[in-house]
Amino acid sequence: MGKVVAIDGPSGAGKSTLAKSLAEVLGFEYLDTGALYRAVALSLKFKGIAPENDDKKIARALEGVSIEFRDGRVYLNGNDVSEDIRTKEAGHYSSVFSARKPVRDFLLPLQRGFSRGDKDLVVEGRDMTTVVFPDAWKKFYLDASTRERARRRYEQMAILRKNISMEDAIEDVELRDKRDSSREIAPLKRSDDAFYLDTTDMTASQVLDKMIEVINEVF
Ligand code: DC
Repeated sequence: MGKVVAIDGPSGAGKSTLAKSLAEVLGFEYLDTGALYRAVALSLKFKGIAPENDDKKIARALEGVSIEFRDGRVYLNGNDVSEDIRTKEAGHYSSVFSARKPVRDFLLPLQRGFSRGDKDLVVEGRDMTTVVFPDAWKKFYLDASTRERARRRYEQMAILRKNISMEDAIEDVELRDKRDSSREIAPLKRSDDAFYLDTTDMTASQVLDKMIEVINEVF
């Protein structure tokens, strides 16, 4: 197994931006596990699966589902879903379905598989440091205030030309926090051995510098 830099944190803490930049600086590959949960949620939605359906039905619907990353794009069963997974609806369903055991069971080996061989990886999500890569080479937990995370989300949606209000953004962030942290399986939580960084008043480049500093520290 190659080296893994594992990053966890709530929605809007800057994980994707930082993980991408860090991967570039280190020459590692980047794995966005949220994209996997979003693609799975889409696939379940396409198949008419509802959140209230039982585990058996969900597990059956996931049989044979394939998710791939190619040239920065996300493919679900061979179809490019890179834009579809970024909608508000996909975000909602991914948060709901990610609490379900068959979904987490399906994605666990897939995520670990990305580090097979001697591939070095920067991974980000909610349970990277605790469940998927507990023995990661370096671990980080990125955080920021609810208001700042909502502001970033609002800006991100504006770039994608998806109009949401700031109130909507706050509500969305709060709801997702609640769901991601309170689920029974692999909830979002800070692990003691992850370096904690509050990014509320930091620019992305300041956060990147700090992460590189921590990575270069000899423990
Ligand atoms: O990071 P994101 O917003 O793209 O993630 C979408 C949803 O997927 C999020 O609400 C929580 C879930 N998720 C998860 O449960 N575990 C991960 N490792 C990554 C994402």
